[in-house]
Amino acid sequence: MKDLDRLAPVGSPERAMLEQLPPERLPRHVAIIMDGNGRWARGRGLPRVEGHRAGIRAVRESVEAAARLELDTLTLFAFSTENWKRPRWEVRTLMTLLKEYLNRELRTLVDNNVRFRPIGRIAELEVEVQEGLDKAVEATRANTGLLFQIALNYSGRAELTDTLVAAVRLARDGALAPESISEDWVTDHLTTAGVADPDLLIRTSGELRISNFLLWQLAYAELYFTPVLWPDFTTRDLLQAVADFARRERRFGGVLEGGGEAPEGEE
Ligand code: FPP
Repeated sequence: MKDLDRLAPVGSPERAMLEQLPPERLPRHVAIIMDGNGRWARGRGLPRVEGHRAGIRAVRESVEAAARLELDTLTLFAFSTENWKRPRWEVRTLMTLLKEYLNRELRTLVDNNVRFRPIGRIAELEVEVQEGLDKAVEATRANTGLLFQIALNYSGRAELTDTLVAAVRLARDGALAPESISEDWVTDHLTTAGVADPDLLIRTSGELRISNFLLWQLAYAELYFTPVLWPDFTTRDLLQAVADFARRERRFGGVLEGGGEAPEGEE
């Protein structure tokens, strides 16, 4: 970790925490369900959209912290396929905030060696949003640092359904034998193809749900729930989640190394 000083000042509790973290125990991919913008705003007597606006600060800070922690991937859930049910003005504001974010932050993403990738049913978003996303993908294509995935018009079930439809089409056209469909084939045909699964899922605002996020990819993720509302989420909160992850024992359905003697006669 090269950028310790910019993550946590010397002498701070976070710095002590970071210094104790063995780099090999850090997650490589962190996914976050950013929740609680509405409650943050309500608590201040503000309209909901002000919560989303305040949430942008937390997005910016988390991307920067993830880059400094040298994570491989950060995936943020920004807009679900179910979010279209929200009032029109709220959806419109979220799209406007996204366009503003891309306009304002693109330079920083490029300068911080961040690669940007939207995931979800992007073709269903308004053309202007798609253009902004394309521009960000193009401008950051050659970057080699953090992969920042933003899930937009995304849901795990929609993604799996799209993959199923693609497989049936290929099979119908004789381009795919059903017996050649494996778990690896599915993984390679999701919108996240080529990216390792999240090691850690964080959800803010105290809700204990996955909410249709990365259903396939989260199979073995460690889950971390915090009561902090998304607009209040800071580098410190991210570091706390990462430190909690570093203490967990992951077995992926197996046993820990040295996990018990085999009975006599068994290997
Ligand atoms: C959940 O809060 C948050 C969302 C549905 C959207 C997340 C969006 C942002 C953080 C801002 C936009 C980000 C970018 C990059 C443009 P909620 O409204 O469900 O909160 P509540 O549960 O308290 O009502």
